[in-house]
This record gives sequence, C-alpha cells and structure tokens, in this order.
Amino acid sequence: MTMRLVASCVALVLVYSQAFAKQQPTDFQAVVDRAHAQFKDVKDGANADYIPILATVPSDMFGVVIVTRDGQVFSAGEMDYEFSIQSVSKPFTASLVMDQQGPAAVREKIGVEPTGLPFNSKMALELYAARSVNPLVNAGAIAAVSLVKADSEEDRWNQIHANLNAYAGRELPVLEEVYTSEYEESWSNRGIANLLYNYGRLYSDPEETLRVYTRQCSTGINTLDLGMMGATLANQGVNPVSGKRVLDAAHIPELLAIMATAGFYDESGEWMYSAGLPAKTGVGGGIVAVVPGKFAIATFSPPLNEAGNSVRGMQAIRYIAGELGVGLFGANKGE
Ligand code: DON
Repeated sequence: MTMRLVASCVALVLVYSQAFAKQQPTDFQAVVDRAHAQFKDVKDGANADYIPILATVPSDMFGVVIVTRDGQVFSAGEMDYEFSIQSVSKPFTASLVMDQQGPAAVREKIGVEPTGLPFNSKMALELYAARSVNPLVNAGAIAAVSLVKADSEEDRWNQIHANLNAYAGRELPVLEEVYTSEYEESWSNRGIANLLYNYGRLYSDPEETLRVYTRQCSTGINTLDLGMMGATLANQGVNPVSGKRVLDAAHIPELLAIMATAGFYDESGEWMYSAGLPAKTGVGGGIVAVVPGKFAIATFSPPLNEAGNSVRGMQAIRYIAGELGVGLFGANKGE
C-alpha cells in the first residue's frame, strides 16, 4: 500500500515537472515577444550626449532577452549590435574586488550605501564620510577600479577585461571610438578621481585609474552578452555556457544587494517599488536585471530618462517581471 502511494506520488511529481519544463520556454518566449511588441514604439527619452558619440547610436534599436541559469535563451529584437556597457560594468568590477579582497573591503574601502543622488554627483563626495559611497555610482566605480590588485595600468585593465569576458562567456571588444569620445570629455570623472585621491579614498594613480575606468565603460556588448552576464549572477556566479566560476557563490547576495539598493541611482527606490529586482543600468542603453537562482532579463534601448536609465528597457523589464510574478518581495504588477 505504502509502495503504491510512493509510486503515485513520484509519478505525479514527474508529470508536473515535465509539464513545467515544457511550459516554461513557451511562456518565457511569449512574454519576451509581448514586452518587445508593447514598448518598441515608445518615443520617450533621449540618447546620452555628454559622451558625444552616444548621441549617434540609432535610438530605435530595442532588444529584450531572458537567459536562464542553465543557459536557455528567449529573445526578441536587436541581439547583435555592440553597444558600450558603460555603468552596467560596475557591479562586475565590484565582483572582481570582492573576489580578490572579500566583501569587507568593498564595504570599508568604497561603501555600500545608496546616495539618492545622480550617478556623477560630486556633492555625494562631500556629503558622505565614505566619499565613494557605493561601487555603482561613478565615484565608487572609479574607486573599485583603483582597488583591483595590479602592478601596472595594463595589468589592471587586463584583469578587468578578463573578468567581464568570463561573465559574458566570450572575448568582448573595446569600442575605441567610445573610449576616445568619453576620455576627451572626462572632466567630471577626472574631478571625482582627484577628489577621491585627495580624501585617501582612491587607491592608485588618479589619471591611470580614470583611463582604465573609461576603457571598462567602453567595452562592447550585445543584448545577449548582457543576458549571459546576468545569468551568471543568477547561476550563483557560474557562467551557464562555459561552466566557469567567476564569483564565489557566497558573495552573490552581497553583490545583488548593492544592485537592489543602488542600481538605478536616484531612481533605485522607484525601481524596487515597481519591479522588485536587483538590476543595473548604463548610459549606453543597457539594463540587466537578475531573478536570483533563476534567470536574468536584459534589454538594450538607447533613449534614457532624466536619471540616465533606459526608458523602454525599464518598461520591458517591469512588464516581464510583472507577468512572470518574480519580484523579490512578491509578485509586483510592474506598475
Ligand atoms: O562615467 C560615466 O559617466 C559613464 N562612463 C558611465 C555612466 C553610466 O552609465 C550611468 N548609468 N546610467
């Protein structure tokens, strides 16, 4: 009798899990398709232009992708165009610092508080004792670059590049035109680097650090790369395709916590209120959001809102998270 009961339970579980396995890809693809169709014609926002070349990127490009922790891909729209990663690179370099020096170094040498201020705020440096405040604003990201243990500028860059490559699962290019365009106009970031150095919160030469940071931001990725980078975080630090461990699983919660509290700068509260997922944006138009232990949602669309976050990307991710009911605190409706 007991054996028969166990056998029926096993059969039931098998039927249910097969049904779920079959249902999941269809649903994911349908939701991604709907998100793309629903927001592709939105005309709000404008390309970043303080990095002059970003203003020339076609504004209508729009890509949406889900990459699961086991490497399944569900995509719609632009997947091939290589855009600059910009600030989406910041959590990944923070991950490298965590990997090399542990999470306490990030807390003590950079900080982990949201600023509530724009990504390039100089005022935050004067307001907060930590100065750099967190690794996702420019000040903290520049400090993170300076913390990578390196014996030369080239070594510093090579390590940061290799880390981004490992997250994406391929050798990523540097978009030299973007690098030049940004570095030539880097007066604000140069000011930030020098202020940090003045306060003892930058840990290598300011101009060298600025160059490596700008190169990091000029790394070229496509929407799919971004999805894969997020899926590596969703997969506890292991790239789903290469199988390579990039970050100790023990540090994933700490990294995602920073993304949840500061990934959208002065819009981070609004983002968690409406989407409920840790995520990171960049002025190149990319956003990556992570559903811990499950999958990543990545988008690419250049027009940004006032806070420097991609308008269509935010709409699409909120929609997908709402439809799939995956908000961290319960099923946000994406409103
Ligand atoms: O340092 C900068 O200003 C750029 N390289 C990156 C800023 C950025 O992407 C802000 N994100 N929304």
